[in-house]
Amino acid sequence: MIRATVLCENSVYGNTGALAEHGWSVWIETEQGAYLFDTGQSTAFLNNARLFGVPLADARAILISHHHADHTGGLLNAIQTLRVGAERNAVPVHAHPHLFKQSFSKRGEDLAYIGVPHNRPALETAGASFQLEAGWTEIAPGLAMTGEVPRVTDFEFGDQDLHHIDESGKLVVDPIRDDQTVVIDTPEGLFVVLGCSHAGLINILTYIREQTGKSRFHTVMGGTHLGPVSDEQVDGTIAALHEFDIGRIGVSHCTGPRVAARLAHEFGERFFFCSVGTVVEV
Ligand SMILES: [Fe+2]
Ligand SMILES: [Fe+2]
Repeated sequence: MIRATVLCENSVYGNTGALAEHGWSVWIETEQGAYLFDTGQSTAFLNNARLFGVPLADARAILISHHHADHTGGLLNAIQTLRVGAERNAVPVHAHPHLFKQSFSKRGEDLAYIGVPHNRPALETAGASFQLEAGWTEIAPGLAMTGEVPRVTDFEFGDQDLHHIDESGKLVVDPIRDDQTVVIDTPEGLFVVLGCSHAGLINILTYIREQTGKSRFHTVMGGTHLGPVSDEQVDGTIAALHEFDIGRIGVSHCTGPRVAARLAHEFGERFFFCSVGTVVEV
């Protein structure tokens, strides 16, 4: 049995006592143990885990989708909770080698730092044992992280407001090569938990299909980053999604209400919205 519980998202409906914040965090239970995927931007995931009775300290590891602060801001708290709660010396944190890159959102001339808010020594002092891999990585039997996703479509250009300092020291649009997704193989089909889909939702699903040799997606859930991208990308993504065999599609976070409404219209009964407290089971 696989169960995913949304611990941090931008919205809360009907869960008294739950907190929302711009961010994303999911508790993923598998037969081999539980994993914390992303940590939101501050402490909402801690509050919500307590409220939902999620035993955070039991997590086998922390998985990080990409370096942005709305996914990594809670990392220090998460590491402390897992280390102290389970009385262990080290907490495995799986992420891409670009985890500590310098990146910024740029609106006009205004730059805002959006990388991990704590540095590596601070997180390691708290107990993090970083396992940084750029490629497809099997975390446990049947549970993988995609690593870097090849960009193959001609319409997924991503968010042009997000910048980073490149190798030559210049501030340029960030391709966010570190963006990765969790893939769980189940007898009912693939269970996919997206981070922010900066790699492009269609690029991601195409790569997962190639890597696994499987084409049935039982569930695709998470951030799609279709809110801040061009209409061309939104239209292209929605058209291409219909070519995939997707049982349920649950969007959240950086999808934004306008695109979420379009997807709800397109996918009808197969659509759901992943606000805080959403539980999906296979
Ligand atoms: Fe992001
Ligand atoms: Fe995000």
